[in-house]
Amino acid sequence: MQSAAAEMLRIENVSKTFTLHLRGGMYLPVVSSLTLHVNAGECVALNGPSGTGKSSILKMIFGSYLTSSGSVLVRAGADFVDVAKAGPLEVLALRSSTLGYVSQFLRVIPRVACIDVIAASAREDGCDEDEAQARARSLLARLNLPERLWGLPPATFSGGEQQRVNIARGFAAHRPVMLLDEPTASLDAVNSAAVVELIRERKAAGAAILGVFHDASVRDKVADRNVEIQPVERSEVCD
Ligand SMILES: Nc1ncnc2c1ncn2[C@@H]1O[C@H](COP(=O)(O)OP(=O)(O)O)[C@@H](O)[C@H]1O
Ligand SMILES: [Mg+2]
Repeated sequence: MQSAAAEMLRIENVSKTFTLHLRGGMYLPVVSSLTLHVNAGECVALNGPSGTGKSSILKMIFGSYLTSSGSVLVRAGADFVDVAKAGPLEVLALRSSTLGYVSQFLRVIPRVACIDVIAASAREDGCDEDEAQARARSLLARLNLPERLWGLPPATFSGGEQQRVNIARGFAAHRPVMLLDEPTASLDAVNSAAVVELIRERKAAGAAILGVFHDASVRDKVADRNVEIQPVERSEVCD
């Protein structure tokens, strides 16, 4: 039997309905009765066609989207925190101790150099300045970002370059639960392979990873289990 201690993330009967205020308060159900769990040291892939709510599920776990019903339990030390019921301060505490998230698109403060964006994430993880810079340099080198770009703000970088900065930022903090939203979507084969290595290392170090991987070959290399997300019956849309 699986040890309860190994379970890091448990989603129980979760549903999400958006209320579209600009459309007269229309309801848009996107996730219905989802239950899944992720243990320490494993990677679970969320699969399903575009628009089935995969990104919304990751955002509910990270606390960026409210959960309409059900529970989103994340292990923090000996206890589980229910993100569905947590207040903003609890969510922030969980993000700085437990939850890592690589979003689909990079959002950064303008004018901050890319190496500092990544080092800031390592500092938040408890590294001193030298260690933070070393983590940032190592990740940027592994992700093949040309060194001439390290001192520049990433706002003008190409899509693939920005995505690698985003991945480096996510992996610079060693979080026990990681959420990855299509981390290799705009990467070539060499850089996708570098991301596969990072994911495997983090799994070996005991992280629980929940990810969306549009590229089946990447998914096959990292995922231990797959969860198929079914489209919600659109007849449930009501106004
Ligand atoms: N903030 C939002 N407000 C309203 N609708 C949203 C919002 N975010 C996502 N949606 C809708 O929810 C559905 C699922 O989106 P998403 O979670 O991005 O799907 P996936 O990642 O599986 O492609 C889509 O129809 C999308 O338009
Ligand atoms: Mg998505």
